[in-house]
Amino acid sequence: MINIAIFASGNGSNFQSIVDAYKNNKLLVRKIILVANKENINAIKIANQNKIKNYTFILKNYSSKVSYEEEILKVLEEEKIKYIFLAGYMMLISSVLLERYRNRIFNIHPSLLPSFKGKNAIEETLSYGTYLSGFTIHHVNQDVDSGKIIFQKQVRVYKNDTPEKLQFRIQKQEHKYYWKVINKIIRGDEE
Ligand code: GAR
Repeated sequence: MINIAIFASGNGSNFQSIVDAYKNNKLLVRKIILVANKENINAIKIANQNKIKNYTFILKNYSSKVSYEEEILKVLEEEKIKYIFLAGYMMLISSVLLERYRNRIFNIHPSLLPSFKGKNAIEETLSYGTYLSGFTIHHVNQDVDSGKIIFQKQVRVYKNDTPEKLQFRIQKQEHKYYWKVINKIIRGDEE
C-alpha cells in the first residue's frame, strides 16, 4: 500500500471526499497527508477533524519557489509519498516537484480541457455560452491545466445557470469520481 499527498489552497471539498473514501476503506492507500499553501483554510480544518497529518508552506516565507518546493519535497520524502493529487491547489507546480514526481502529479479542473484553463473556468464557461461543461483530471506539467488528460466527465450547462449553481453541480461530480480515478491511477490502469 502506498501513501499520497493532497495539495489544497482553500475550501477542501474534494479533499473531504477523498478523506471520506479513505475512512470508508475504499481508497487503495495506507496514508494521506495534506499539503496546504495558505493558513487557516477549510482544508486544514477538515484534516485536523479527521486526524490527517497536514503541513502548511507559505511561499512568501521562502527566498524562491525552488526553496519553497524543496521544503515540500523533504516532507514528501520523509512521508514516503508516491503520488501528489492537486485539489484546488491554486499555484503552478514547478521544476523541483515536477522532476522528482515525474508523471506522478495529477490535478482536477472544472472544465472540459483544453477549453477554459486557469482560475476562472466556470465564469468563462458561462460567458462563452457553451452548453456542456464538466471536469477533467489530468497529469500536471509546467503549464497551467495542460498535461495529458486521463479522465473527463460532462455536466450540462443550463440557461439560468449562475457560477455558483454550475460549480455546485460540477463539484458534485468531482466528489463522486476523484477518489475512484485516484484508485485507477494507483492500480496503474488510468489510461
Ligand atoms: C475544484 O472545483 C477544482 O476543480 C478547482 O478548484 C475547486 C476546489 O474546490 N480547481 C481548479 O480550478 C484548478 N485550476 P475544493 O477546494 O472545494 O475542493
